[in-house]
Amino acid sequence: MCGIVGYVGHRSALDVVVAGLQRLEYRGYDSAGVALAIPGEQQLHSVKRAGKLANLIDALADEPLPEAHTAIGHTRWATHGPPTNRNAHPHQSGRVAVVHNGIIENFATLRASLEAAGRELVSETDTEVVAHLLDLELEKTPDLADAVRAVCRCLEGAFTLVIADSTNPDVVVGARRNSPLVVGRGHGENFLGSDVAAFVEFTREAIELGQDQVVTITADDIVVTDFDGNPAEVSPYHIDWDIAAAEKGGYEWFMLKEIAEQPHAVADTLLGRHAANGQLQLDEMRLSDDELRDVDQIVIIACGTSFYAGMVAKYAIEHWTRIPCEVELASEFRYRDPILTRSTLVVSISQSGETMDTLMAIRYAREQRARVLSICNTNGATIPRESDAVIYTHAGPEIAVASTKGFLAQIVACYLLGLYLAQVKGIKFRDEISRILADVGAVPNAIQRVLDDADHIRKLARELAQHRSFLFIGRHVGFPVALEGALKLKELAYLHAEGFAGGELKHGPIAVVEDGTPVFAIVPSTSYAALRDKVISNIQEVRARGAQTVVLVEEGDDSALPFADHVIRLPKVPTLLQPLVATVPLQIFACELASQLGYDVDQPRNLAKSVTVE
Ligand code: AGP
Repeated sequence: MCGIVGYVGHRSALDVVVAGLQRLEYRGYDSAGVALAIPGEQQLHSVKRAGKLANLIDALADEPLPEAHTAIGHTRWATHGPPTNRNAHPHQSGRVAVVHNGIIENFATLRASLEAAGRELVSETDTEVVAHLLDLELEKTPDLADAVRAVCRCLEGAFTLVIADSTNPDVVVGARRNSPLVVGRGHGENFLGSDVAAFVEFTREAIELGQDQVVTITADDIVVTDFDGNPAEVSPYHIDWDIAAAEKGGYEWFMLKEIAEQPHAVADTLLGRHAANGQLQLDEMRLSDDELRDVDQIVIIACGTSFYAGMVAKYAIEHWTRIPCEVELASEFRYRDPILTRSTLVVSISQSGETMDTLMAIRYAREQRARVLSICNTNGATIPRESDAVIYTHAGPEIAVASTKGFLAQIVACYLLGLYLAQVKGIKFRDEISRILADVGAVPNAIQRVLDDADHIRKLARELAQHRSFLFIGRHVGFPVALEGALKLKELAYLHAEGFAGGELKHGPIAVVEDGTPVFAIVPSTSYAALRDKVISNIQEVRARGAQTVVLVEEGDDSALPFADHVIRLPKVPTLLQPLVATVPLQIFACELASQLGYDVDQPRNLAKSVTVE
């Protein structure tokens, strides 16, 4: 996600901001920009470039900016509009320049009213709307912080905003809602950053801003209020990790950071999809309702973890829409002469949007006249560009090769698609859809509880680190979770790990169970009691052959405990949502076990983040 830096102080503001942006590169981005304010000048100086920070640094070297002590900077992860110079931040209007992280959900309405009032917007971003609103507000009040508060009260969605003002060149103002912003406290200088990595090189004293707060920094002062201007309580803290860890936000591995970000990944993927009238809206959906009503077959194509997300999705999509749904490995799809018609909806799932197997499969599907909808985490990547419709997951950049938050966000996006089809086809009433969405909306908290209670999972990983073979079993949506748990362990710890459908064990795989073999079993939720009992039988079958069982079971369900050597408790969620909580302990387990074995968790051997060969 976007990186933000703001600075007022005695140093060269440009140097501080560029250094901060470099520290925030780990977040992933596709363009970058800065703006400087200089006393006595009635305009801001700004440079922005698409692509890597090196492009911006080159541009600054070609046309050096004047010395300044106040600056803001930004690395952008494109959401609204592709990564171009024009869409890069800061966005300017009149005396202000704005950088932004998040999504302004009501930006379309705000933009329409600005345009109706004669304002000309030059980018496709939601951020530029904020710059214009601020410019208008500053016609009424000269005070920048007052104007920011007034504008924030009109905004919906998630945003961190940081603003520089040519009329107040000694001030930077920041604001936040549902998106982080921290303040760095220095001596004769103060900082803003999307995380402390932005300024930890200069100060380790920080203040975390609360929800809906506005901060004004000068070189010597920090003032924090709520959106109505009331003084706000702040919590200062000392940063106790060093610069090396900063790039990973204090985590040892990107993967750990990404696992921890999963509550946000799920919440952000849901953001803005549910209108006040209960109607589900998918704004990147370029297929008409009539085209979707014609869909009589769904084929999901994907690779690796994304394929497992598709396997989970099949259960929900068929259940909610009654449309037959197949899931196929992208690398196999076009070699089997699949039956596709104009009313087939091919759904491709790809975190990177660049996986060649998936790309080739969607090209083939389109040649066969099927419609292609892509679920993707990377704005503007090739697969969404070549598709008829896109649902972007908003998980933020995933840097570790092993997918974690991307997987959970993909499942959520698939569920949104399933519910949307059910809505369009009139199979589900609005209140039914609202109820399901409310259940999904509660999942981030459930994931957080798993994360908060993960010490015993890490301990278990250390205990089992000497084993060379692991099995995972599950049924229904628990089956792909088992496959994903095994894949994580293979990728990270280079171990033999296999996932099975619980019912298949007795048809062969049970032969590999030896004395002490760890077998992870995902027990279905109590709301699916008939299936839960079957998995409990499967657990007994492997235990009778010497397996040591690790049972993932929902809180309050003690039925499997007599057959469990180790227990991992899962928050109680509806059956179809269980993968969103059950996968998390398996990610943590694999990550800890690989660390224990001394492997590079983020860059496992032989693997690449984006697989661009067939
Ligand atoms: C997951 O941990 C993997 N690294 C891999 O299986 C990945 O999911 C697969 O290559 C597909 O990638 P994509 O989602 O970017 O298309």
